[in-house]
Amino acid sequence: MASFALPTTVAHLSKTTQLSSAASFSSPTTTTSQLFLNQKCNHLKKSLSCRAAKDSSDQEAASNNTGDGKFDRRDILLGLGGLYGTTAVSGAAFAAPVDVTKCGEATTLPGNVTKIDCCPPPNPNIIDFAFPSRSQPLRIRPAAHMLDAKYIAKFNKAMQLMRDLPKDDPHSFAQQAAIHCAYCDSSYQMVGFPNKKIDVHFSWLFFPFHRWYLYFYEKILGKLIDDPTFGLPFWNWDSPDGAAIPAIFADPKSPLYDNLRDALHQPPLKADLNYSKKVPSPTDLNELIKSNNTVMYNQMVSSSKTAELFFGKPYRAGDDQIKGQGSIENIPHTQIHIWTGDPNQPNGEDMGRFYSAGRDPIFYSHHSNVDRMWNIWKTLPGKNRKDITDTDYLDSAFLFYDENKQLVRVKVRDCLDTKKMGYIYQDVPLPWLRSRPVRKTKKPKKGGRGSANAAEAPTPILDASALPKVLDGILKVNVPRPKKSRTQEEKEDEEEILEIDGIEYDGDEYIKFDVYINDEDEVDSGPQNAEFAGAFSNVPFKVSKKVKTSLSLGITELLEDLGADDDEGLVVALVPRTGKGKVTIGSVKIRFSS
Ligand code: C2O
Repeated sequence: MASFALPTTVAHLSKTTQLSSAASFSSPTTTTSQLFLNQKCNHLKKSLSCRAAKDSSDQEAASNNTGDGKFDRRDILLGLGGLYGTTAVSGAAFAAPVDVTKCGEATTLPGNVTKIDCCPPPNPNIIDFAFPSRSQPLRIRPAAHMLDAKYIAKFNKAMQLMRDLPKDDPHSFAQQAAIHCAYCDSSYQMVGFPNKKIDVHFSWLFFPFHRWYLYFYEKILGKLIDDPTFGLPFWNWDSPDGAAIPAIFADPKSPLYDNLRDALHQPPLKADLNYSKKVPSPTDLNELIKSNNTVMYNQMVSSSKTAELFFGKPYRAGDDQIKGQGSIENIPHTQIHIWTGDPNQPNGEDMGRFYSAGRDPIFYSHHSNVDRMWNIWKTLPGKNRKDITDTDYLDSAFLFYDENKQLVRVKVRDCLDTKKMGYIYQDVPLPWLRSRPVRKTKKPKKGGRGSANAAEAPTPILDASALPKVLDGILKVNVPRPKKSRTQEEKEDEEEILEIDGIEYDGDEYIKFDVYINDEDEVDSGPQNAEFAGAFSNVPFKVSKKVKTSLSLGITELLEDLGADDDEGLVVALVPRTGKGKVTIGSVKIRFSS
């Protein structure tokens, strides 16, 4: 396979320059940080070699003509116009793996936030990631609420040392926190797409990006206390015993403390994994635990039986839209962010907004548990619970400083196996695994409830063709099923998916709406009812002013529980919980996918 290398480019990304030509990069511009850094923004030297196009199992990639023996479009662009010579690139025709290159101004900060520089300190040398040697002991990430005094002391010490470093040190807490801002507030450009800024949320990049982020964070903490076995504790919010903010984070004298948190959500209060902000959480403890367990069951077991449902939708270089979150990113990852952040801050800082979330030490333990869910998900039964094999996913790349202050380029393909990366999680009980919800209503006579019974409900049931509609109250839609009465084998091969598309809202808004199927009194329903198919929620961010995204929910198991396997259609109810009237729903459909 032929390959060619481009001359390396040291680029200085100006705050104000429109990234329209190679010339834009010829003169360095000083970018002054008002928060963390006071230096030129990143000068990332990239050495690019042509990537031989690989076959992709994915249809979209196939349509990009990246068959064997050809270079993909990105590489052709590099050859013709140089890395930054081409701007008129857009759409799926140019799809390629997301690969970050230069870092510049964070362009999608909330309106009231002073401009901040989230880029890492400049460094001309980038190396490719190599796996740690196998002779090193595995790092075991423990549950944060179960740590002994010795471990707590070690964690505190590492955090204190990290906080004490000068702000321009890549190992400092300020720099570690800024990484999240850089990758979430459009600081980075994609290789080959100078006008496209990336965001690592709302797509299949969510899990791998955060895994890599924590990987280096943990190694740096270990290095600071000279303990290569240090494992980053996880906030075990999926278990009743671990659901409150772990005590180690709530001590104001500890470096693990952050004062920008919700004062009403302090321990021993347990987090509500289905938190809707505007709707009060269950006050009865048993009810809350039941709700949490069934939410976890729904997100991990019943609604996410395929890779796309769990990890999120594809995001390729050149894409404008962030197409959709996976189940855990959506819920409860979002809920923990919003529930923890201080509602009296303009943007729910720190945890309630992406640019500031990394400033709270609890963020990393929250994501340690999110990351743990990836490992657990792969062990649950079902033939479609496998890692994504699309090469645009596997070849997506990010940059991080490692524990030796070396800038490293990492690829998604190297983070699929945490053992190979040198860490595992403490084994703790999974109380949600047996929390399959039950239906509220009695099993109906032959034929299932379907639309006939539900039609008696007071909210009018619209035809699916009546959409798009603003969600300014309960929206009920009759959704036809293209296939019914499938065999067990067909169901195992292909998941029946409820696809809610064209979800549009202002990126600054927090939106939460629940989705119920064949339910008659959905206002009072919740995750403890089998009728609950899932929900949509978001940590506010505005990759574009108007976010346009989708929600996919696996419903094969749910339809069995409702006795609706043989129904011609479903009545789908969308119930706004927060952000009523502020979100538009484009369409509701059923599709099938493995
Ligand atoms: Cu990058 Cu929990 O978010």
